[in-house]
Amino acid sequence: KFDGLADTPPMGWNSWNHFGCQIDEDLIKETADAMARNGMRDAGYEYVNIDDCWHGERDEDGFIQPDPERFPSGMKALADYVHERGLKLGIYSDAGAKTCAGYPGSQGYEYQDAMQYARWGIDYLKYDWCNTGEGGAQRNPVEAYTTMRDALYAAGRPIVLSICEWGDNEPWMWGEEIGHLWRTTGDIINCWDCEVGHGNWSSFGIMNILDKQDGLREYAGPGHWNDPDMMEVGNLSTPAEDRAHFTMWAMLAAPLIAGTDIRDVSDSLRTTLTNEEIIAVDQDPLGIQGYAHKKTADVEIWVKPLMDGDWAMTILNRSDEPQDFEYDFMNEYAFEDALTGRRTAFEKEVYDVRDLWAGEDLADTSRPIRKRLPVHDVLALRLTPTGPMPT
Ligand code: GLA
Repeated sequence: KFDGLADTPPMGWNSWNHFGCQIDEDLIKETADAMARNGMRDAGYEYVNIDDCWHGERDEDGFIQPDPERFPSGMKALADYVHERGLKLGIYSDAGAKTCAGYPGSQGYEYQDAMQYARWGIDYLKYDWCNTGEGGAQRNPVEAYTTMRDALYAAGRPIVLSICEWGDNEPWMWGEEIGHLWRTTGDIINCWDCEVGHGNWSSFGIMNILDKQDGLREYAGPGHWNDPDMMEVGNLSTPAEDRAHFTMWAMLAAPLIAGTDIRDVSDSLRTTLTNEEIIAVDQDPLGIQGYAHKKTADVEIWVKPLMDGDWAMTILNRSDEPQDFEYDFMNEYAFEDALTGRRTAFEKEVYDVRDLWAGEDLADTSRPIRKRLPVHDVLALRLTPTGPMPT
């Protein structure tokens, strides 16, 4: 696998969550223009990713071509356009004979497809798992994803490999050597808390996806990330839900792939997607995925160890009512990360407490914090050690 491509979780945009199959080159160009203009590129968003439905047919030599109506200028010209704006272009394929939407998949064409992507100047491949067979006839996922990894490597162009296997074959157990990120669940959908069945598969709301991340943090780290799916930020019911979703993905050290229409973004959504201090939690160089420190039915406290002894702390109000939250650092349990052994000692060391959505310093850990948490919202804090507790 190409190393050094995802030392921190990849950031970008993808067409699927908002546009589905309604995609063409104008959408991709306008999105790249918007990212360069609206502050997203400068905040770290890098990849402009085309999902399913870009495909035309294979030519007589077997090389895949884009749909000539949706992408009349061709993929090379589109990649050039995106690169000229300081961004990178991603594409989508599938390890089966057909993609999830029924377009040509890469099975049996891996080396040829990888070569074609490299020629076009593609920088990121999301590689899906539809139509890979069932039961005893199911393609072996390690073999399938390794074949595409090797094909990309042989094609010689550094390309991020996003394993889109939905978690059934525990990609966290084998993904590190093969790809840069792996989906941990089925598809996300734009609701706070729901599960929507589609016959033999389901899609999951933000809280449902969050709950499915338990036990996976030890598998993530620089170059290899758990992927709780592309974001629905901008597609949820309230700005609070968008903010909470974005913050929780940062706490998970998740890839931050926007999945909404960003061409004409509202101020509130732009503020959410480009909050540098939240992005810094996600992109922290240590690459340690956060975890739930304490949970009740309504409110969860998540923490994430950061560089230089800092911690991110997020209080999430999952409930449908505002919640009064109080945390007395001196008397509550200290944070203790079982994975890294990192711990706090609030009785001995003072930390400054900064509110990352208000953009202001709140207090320090020598005093309790009290806040009213609005419905489906978060309080996102960064704790920075400042020295020993005065005696
Ligand atoms: C699968 C993937 C989605 C999306 C669609 C496209 O469902 O999990 O993220 O790529 O296919 O058809």
